[in-house]
Amino acid sequence: MPTTIAALAADPSPLTRTITVDGTGLTVRALLPTDEIALVAFLAGLSATSRRFWHGDTPDAEAAADWIEVIGRHDKLRLVAVDGTDLAGVVDLSLSLPEGFEITRYAGHGIHLDPERTARFGPCVADAWQGRGLADALIAPAWDAIRLLGRDVVVLFGGVHTDNARARRFYRRHGFVEVGDIDMWRRL
Ligand SMILES: CC(C)(COP(=O)(O)OP(=O)(O)OC[C@H]1O[C@@H](n2cnc3c(N)ncnc32)[C@H](O)[C@@H]1OP(=O)(O)O)[C@@H](O)C(=O)NCCC(=O)NCCS
Repeated sequence: MPTTIAALAADPSPLTRTITVDGTGLTVRALLPTDEIALVAFLAGLSATSRRFWHGDTPDAEAAADWIEVIGRHDKLRLVAVDGTDLAGVVDLSLSLPEGFEITRYAGHGIHLDPERTARFGPCVADAWQGRGLADALIAPAWDAIRLLGRDVVVLFGGVHTDNARARRFYRRHGFVEVGDIDMWRRL
């Protein structure tokens, strides 16, 4: 039986592991209620480019408070890579496919996304950590989480900007294929 987001909030231990990136040991685990200050700092520290590609316009404190508030509820699961007291990277996962977003865009590409099988995936690495292999190292924990939740199709959460060349290379390297200007997907 697949697990649930609520069950993983009650016991996040199946998501926790240690990774080594560029010689530094990091912990990958679920976002916890105690992470709010670190999450605000992570968001506030993003460069304008990283923010444009990933975060959008929601004020940092508001976004962080919302992420903490919804832990274990609804459709979202956030993984974080922790370096000491800092967040080095975040993986935003969602199990929902609201009308007007991915499910509608993929239908436009001739693809029916099965809401029972699909997860949305959106990674972001702190600027100081980019280009060092952190996103690569977050792939296995992210796929494990998605499989634990019983999903086997991954689509990019919000798509990828056409000018986000680094992210596109990263996604292709991990088996994603383009299905539209901003959409890429893969099966696990
Ligand atoms: C896209 C993003 C998640 C990739 O993260 P990353 O950690 O830099 O990605 P990778 O781990 O794959 O490393 C990227 C580069 O580092 C290089 N690299 C250096 N050392 C490495 C190592 N030890 N292991 C793996 N790659 C390494 C890779 O070759 C790769 O080079 P390339 O960009 O020329 O292809 C990150 O750049 C990011 O967060 N960007 C801003 C937000 C964003 O765009 N999010 C995606 C929204 S769709």
